[in-house]
Amino acid sequence: MMSENADFVYVHAKSNMAVLHTAGNRQLNAKEDAAAALERLFVLLEQKRRTFDFSAATRIGKCVFVGEGDLSFARALARDPKSCAGNIIATTFEAERSVCLEGRTNARSLSDLGAKVLHGVDARNLNERNLPTMAELIAFQFPNTGTRRSVHGRTDNHVLLRRFLRAAASRLKLSGRIAVTLVNSPHHLGAFDPPSAAQWAGCEVVEVLPFYRSAWSGYGHVNTNDASESALSKYRSCSTWVFNSVRR
Ligand SMILES: C[S@@+](CC[C@H](N)C(=O)[O-])C[C@H]1O[C@@H](n2cnc3c(N)ncnc32)[C@H](O)[C@@H]1O
Repeated sequence: MMSENADFVYVHAKSNMAVLHTAGNRQLNAKEDAAAALERLFVLLEQKRRTFDFSAATRIGKCVFVGEGDLSFARALARDPKSCAGNIIATTFEAERSVCLEGRTNARSLSDLGAKVLHGVDARNLNERNLPTMAELIAFQFPNTGTRRSVHGRTDNHVLLRRFLRAAASRLKLSGRIAVTLVNSPHHLGAFDPPSAAQWAGCEVVEVLPFYRSAWSGYGHVNTNDASESALSKYRSCSTWVFNSVRR
């Protein structure tokens, strides 16, 4: 169910992208159309007044955050007075010894606030027995494999997203949601292709909402490979994609 206008524009942009695969002189026009539709999507997304309410989710039930890097998003959320920090489970892909200094400080701060921190959690395989079986929310802020490989025409980032969605769907409450925040750029949306990933994983896109990093005090955002070059320093517009599971 893709409801609001911006979501419709994304579908339009995607179908235009599909036209790119047809050879011949229509290719350039289709590319321009797709780029224009995406630009319009980004403007429409920014016009939405509502953002995804991460704090509200923490008040309802257990919320798992995967691929948290330096844990600064989870920490910012846990410190929000509207959040219930005790329902936050913040996880890193990296083993504890590989977490950066900032991440260790944030982990201590999260524990002090009553949140749980786990290391070495792979978003593609959420079998970790310390994770809740019925989560209210499972979120991945700015997933990135740090590679640019494609296998059978699918990028590593698309494969990460779809495997995460499938793993998360299996640990979600009936009314639960999966949230993934991505940069709004043709490159990122093309690489992740969230609608196709959702379909593969037995999920559905419920809505796409703007995400403002500046709303989260202390949120640093690290890159997978090179902390000195943040994707967010180049692209400011971001969106949270909200999914549910359709295979119950
Ligand atoms: C661009 S960083 C974003 C970090 C953090 N979520 C943030 O918003 O600042 C991408 C993160 O994805 C993590 N990652 C990559 N592959 C992963 C996987 N299979 N499971 C969990 N996390 C993964 C990396 O360790 C890295 O921390």
